[in-house]
Amino acid sequence: MTVWGIVVAAGRGERFGGLKHESILGGQPMWEHSREALLAGGAGGVIVVGPVPGGVTGGERRRDSVAAGLAAVPADATIVLVHDAARPLASPDLVARVIERLSSGGADAVIPVVAVRDTIRRVRDGQVIGTVDRSDLAAVQTPQGFSAGVLRRAHAAGEADATDDAVLVERIGGTVVAVEGEPANIKVTYPADLALAEALLS
Ligand code: CTP
Ligand code: MG
Repeated sequence: MTVWGIVVAAGRGERFGGLKHESILGGQPMWEHSREALLAGGAGGVIVVGPVPGGVTGGERRRDSVAAGLAAVPADATIVLVHDAARPLASPDLVARVIERLSSGGADAVIPVVAVRDTIRRVRDGQVIGTVDRSDLAAVQTPQGFSAGVLRRAHAAGEADATDDAVLVERIGGTVVAVEGEPANIKVTYPADLALAEALLS
């Protein structure tokens, strides 16, 4: 088993208002936290995608950035983890759990999920137009783990964009399974999320 990680840090940070992966959290940039979590959780090497020291050039869409990272992953990798630089609080335990579930068989992709706690309603133009049964809803996180061959095939298969790589794997008929994610593993999307992440870290 040879595990490689990809940290994607090539987004524009439009909602954040700048290159958020460079933001300092607990004394180091977010993308460094994300990289270190993958290494501490069992990745033998990590490719960082984005304008950081040693990073490879990303692409227009997230999937293009992942594809650029995948092209730099050595051919002998058997498991590939894909992680957002914008999720600097993922723990090494979570990374190890994803790898373990993947190596125990029966899954082409493993995604961490957390149950949705709030009541979910459909709202349009300020009007409440419906309720959603939340019992089988889950919020999806990264790091996501993949059998390397399946991830390469999923990326080669089509050009349509997707919110994450597990969706690409589903499209080629792959099996996606869930493991327990972490409530603290938030994605830094808006400026206020950085303060929240700082509080969670300390
Ligand atoms: N990402 C990337 N390449 C892209 C788009 C996104 O590497 N073309 C990365 C981001 O750097 C981030 C992760 O994918 O670590 C999740 O994306 P998101 O939180 O949406 O970040 P941004 O796309 O940068 O933010 P925004 O959508 O607000 O512009
Ligand atoms: Mg984005």
